[in-house]
Amino acid sequence: MERTAAVVLAAGKGTRMGSQIHKQYMELCGKPLLYYTLRAFEESSVDEIVLVTGPGEVSYCQNEIADRYGFRKVSCVTEGGKERYHSVYAGLKAVRDCAYVLIHDGARPCVTKEIIDASKSAAIRYGACVVGMPVKDTIKVSDENGYAAVTPDRNSLWQIQTPQAFRYDLVFYAYTRLMDSEQFQKGVTDDAMVVETMTKEKVKLIQGDYTNIKVTTPEDLEIAGVFLNRIYGNR
Ligand code: CTP
Ligand code: MG
Repeated sequence: MERTAAVVLAAGKGTRMGSQIHKQYMELCGKPLLYYTLRAFEESSVDEIVLVTGPGEVSYCQNEIADRYGFRKVSCVTEGGKERYHSVYAGLKAVRDCAYVLIHDGARPCVTKEIIDASKSAAIRYGACVVGMPVKDTIKVSDENGYAAVTPDRNSLWQIQTPQAFRYDLVFYAYTRLMDSEQFQKGVTDDAMVVETMTKEKVKLIQGDYTNIKVTTPEDLEIAGVFLNRIYGNR
């Protein structure tokens, strides 16, 4: 099997959570949120985990999370950057020798090893894939005055999650080009966009799970607690 790495992003400030402690370290069912994210990758078929954290948080993550909970696949804890894409690039540079890489938001603790393994398989099959789900709500695009302008056909809309999984050479090439191009850096919100914009490769959409939420605002913590109980409650 081809060697696969995961880059787990935990260098954000959690501004929208509005808490003292960054959301990735907040406690959920007695453990830091990031513990659950790493546990899913540890139990999956990826070979190596690169954890990207904020400046000044590297030793905390190494000692209090990676070592404390015995995550043996964590090969490197490294510092991220100002924007998410800076953190991704730092993580990609720290990956050792892998043919495929899965990029994942540390703030999605309800990811499962099944979702991770499905992303890995799809990366091997398609070269580039992202996990998402069909949207349930109607989505409208507003005009500059706050009036509904367009209602895209819901059947073609997906809400995108992570992992986003790629051939390593492809995503590294795309990110290297992005770092040289200030024009494209504005408005980058996910890795697929970088590959779509910087290369000719097509990105396959695969189904994740509606439970694979990103913990962003306080109510997400309550919901994540319910899902984590379901996933890990008796193990
Ligand atoms: N992230 C990162 N480096 C950054 C910004 C974000 O590693 N410079 C990570 C976050 O830690 C998170 C993931 O990217 O796991 C998704 O980002 P988001 O949910 O936006 O988290 P934050 O940026 O921390 O939150 P906010 O936008 O509310 O400040
Ligand atoms: Mg953010």
